[in-house]
Amino acid sequence: MDVLRFKDRFYEEYGEDDSNQTVHCFFAPGRVNLIGEHIDYNGGYVFPAALSLGIYGAMRFRSDNVIQLKSTNASLAVTIDLKQPIIFKTEDGWANYPKGAIKHLLDDGYSLKGCEILFSGNLPDGAGLSSSAALLVLVTFMLRYAGGERNIDRVELAKFCQKIENQFMRVNCGIMDQFSVAMGKQDYAILLDCDTLQYKYTPFALGEYSLVIMNTNKKRELAESKYNQRRGECEAVLDIINQHRQVTNLCQVSLLEIDTYVKDDVLQRRARHVISENNRVLLAVSLLEQGDIGGFADLMTQSHISLKDDYEVTGLELDSLVENALKTRGCIGARMTGAGFGGCAIALVATDQIDAFKVAVAQRYEEVTNLRPEFYVASIVDGVKAIDC
Ligand code: GLA
Repeated sequence: MDVLRFKDRFYEEYGEDDSNQTVHCFFAPGRVNLIGEHIDYNGGYVFPAALSLGIYGAMRFRSDNVIQLKSTNASLAVTIDLKQPIIFKTEDGWANYPKGAIKHLLDDGYSLKGCEILFSGNLPDGAGLSSSAALLVLVTFMLRYAGGERNIDRVELAKFCQKIENQFMRVNCGIMDQFSVAMGKQDYAILLDCDTLQYKYTPFALGEYSLVIMNTNKKRELAESKYNQRRGECEAVLDIINQHRQVTNLCQVSLLEIDTYVKDDVLQRRARHVISENNRVLLAVSLLEQGDIGGFADLMTQSHISLKDDYEVTGLELDSLVENALKTRGCIGARMTGAGFGGCAIALVATDQIDAFKVAVAQRYEEVTNLRPEFYVASIVDGVKAIDC
């Protein structure tokens, strides 16, 4: 995205500046989770990174109490009067995210002024790359930064935005997405302990390989998916274990305890995924640190198998992309990323084979699903920030 063109686009939407008010510009990345799926709400380790695909935001203050919200990606525009109660409305679609941020900021005592806001994203929405977390973190950061705050605590920012997603959007997600968008660091992935929120940056150096993101182009809506059902199943396992030993999350439980105490086959498999995946994350990070890209890639593939067979969150499209990727020359590991049920998968592919890889995977995937996939070769960038425009 050309930032100057974005500013021109802002002027097209809202008119040229006649009040000498500055236009402030920002960028929030999407996130890709490298390994550690469906682990954040189970209190274990995840290993995400912030993506160069993301959402731009521009804003300019007004002299009244009205906030105008527009996006180049949608025709729906919404206007908010800061003096009126702010409530979720289905017909406000995407604008409910900024509305949630504005409401929660006001509830927390921030004094907000009227402004015009334009968003523009190159992140496919509903694709498992955290477009919703990017939008929430972006708008919250914009309003606070443009309001004069310079030392925004990014961990608090992530927690605040997770709360909005949980309470205003009523999506029961964990902390991983908001944390990645707020805390990303160029060329590093984040090893995050979702129980304590302690984290460590690890260089994401892949040598002769590249990270290829593969979009199934099958849309999924997190709120409508089986996400909450999986969370419920994990809580059910926790209740069973707590009859024998006090634990606060599933990642504190051993596989032996699951085999001993959990009799239901479905619950047993759900727990097996969570516990084995959590172990895989730590192993994967240590292999990456030693430069063992092949070992890291193997664990990615094992993660996918576990999400397919034990956690059952993949489906035809994701499985087909991953299986075809793994059959293709140059690919050393692949898995779904994000919540699953559609969205994106990732693959580690020899950089000099990427063009042939895309053609071969796309062809076989289309034969099976009648959908055309999309590919993005990702770079890893910093978290949300103000940019010059
Ligand atoms: C979604 C949620 C995250 C996380 C992933 C699965 O992206 O928003 O909190 O649970 O699914 O790992």
